[in-house]
Amino acid sequence: MLAHTQDAVVVVDKLTYAGSLLSLAGVDEARVSFIKADIGDRDAMQAAFTQHQPAAVVNFAAETHVDRSIDGPAPFIDTNIVGTFVLLETALAMNRARPEPERAAFRFLHVSTDEVYGSLGDDGLFREDTPYAPNSPYAASKASADHLVRAYFHTYGLPTIITNCSNNYGPYQFPEKLIPLMILNALDGRALPIYGDGGNVRDWLHVDDHCAGVLTALQRGLPGEKYNIGGNSERTNLQVIDVLCEALESLVPAATNPAVKDRGSYAALRTFVPDRPGHDRRYAIDASKIARELGWHPGHNFESGLRATVEWYVQHREWCAAVQSGRYQRERLGLS
Ligand SMILES: NC(=O)c1ccc[n+]([C@@H]2O[C@H](COP(=O)([O-])OP(=O)(O)OC[C@H]3O[C@@H](n4cnc5c(N)ncnc54)[C@H](O)[C@@H]3O)[C@@H](O)[C@H]2O)c1
Repeated sequence: MLAHTQDAVVVVDKLTYAGSLLSLAGVDEARVSFIKADIGDRDAMQAAFTQHQPAAVVNFAAETHVDRSIDGPAPFIDTNIVGTFVLLETALAMNRARPEPERAAFRFLHVSTDEVYGSLGDDGLFREDTPYAPNSPYAASKASADHLVRAYFHTYGLPTIITNCSNNYGPYQFPEKLIPLMILNALDGRALPIYGDGGNVRDWLHVDDHCAGVLTALQRGLPGEKYNIGGNSERTNLQVIDVLCEALESLVPAATNPAVKDRGSYAALRTFVPDRPGHDRRYAIDASKIARELGWHPGHNFESGLRATVEWYVQHREWCAAVQSGRYQRERLGLS
């Protein structure tokens, strides 16, 4: 947003375990305001909307880790469903009080996931009209929010748009997600836990491509529509880990890393562990609608993007330590 527009941005974040102000360090403070608040807090949202009168709302805020949703779904219901409901209500009340043409120009863009569509076999792709079939509490909470967002368009005429994207990777990702978790564990000489047989397939999307897709949908998408955003980069978890280990070998050779020297290589740290309950086998996105109708295409090649991501984590060990800050030790979650 800051790089591609002249707009001012108001960031609302509860700063849960997954959020950190360190991720905003260095942004242009003249164009960015920060409000520490829960999107489910009606009074706080009303105050924020009244003060800033946003021309658009982009709802990224969520509980996002599937394993945590298995251990404790309650915050997923509170934030992903009720929080989205509160944002919709607040946006609707604000927008109804506006005159045209501002009212029609308002956008509520809801960022969702491909996980709402369930699991694929060896063939096929998720399209925007693929029926919803969420399998984890996380996916079910996102699916529920998507339905509310859709309903606010059809029932109240709020100009909403939904985007459903695939697995993101890139800098600043909290180290509970597969790629940063593996990089940091490997550098520390800890096991690289591979769920099940490692054959689960995800379509990997660079975070910059995702952000560009969200901005494109915000600027050119049609209210009431949904757009899938994917990276055309299907890989098994094992393939991802192998590329990541190769990148690490060239950046910080295992032979020179005291934590790994005895094991001989980063790949030797790979360890098969019990699978995640209800683990979806394959996700794959058909992103032809956003390409055809809005002109968005992913720009990153997965292998070079992953290599750059590995390099970023190698160079930002302090950020990684600070955001974990004793609250998360990269322990196994989601087995209950
Ligand atoms: N990361 C992915 O691979 C991926 C894939 C598809 C969709 N998404 C969606 O993209 C969005 C962002 O995902 P992410 O990976 O950056 O998530 P994340 O878990 O890394 O970060 C979530 C952020 O939301 C904030 N937050 C959580 N609850 C809040 C609340 N009640 N009020 C205000 N702020 C709150 C957290 O503090 C944190 O800053 C989510 O909606 C997620 O469902 C992510």
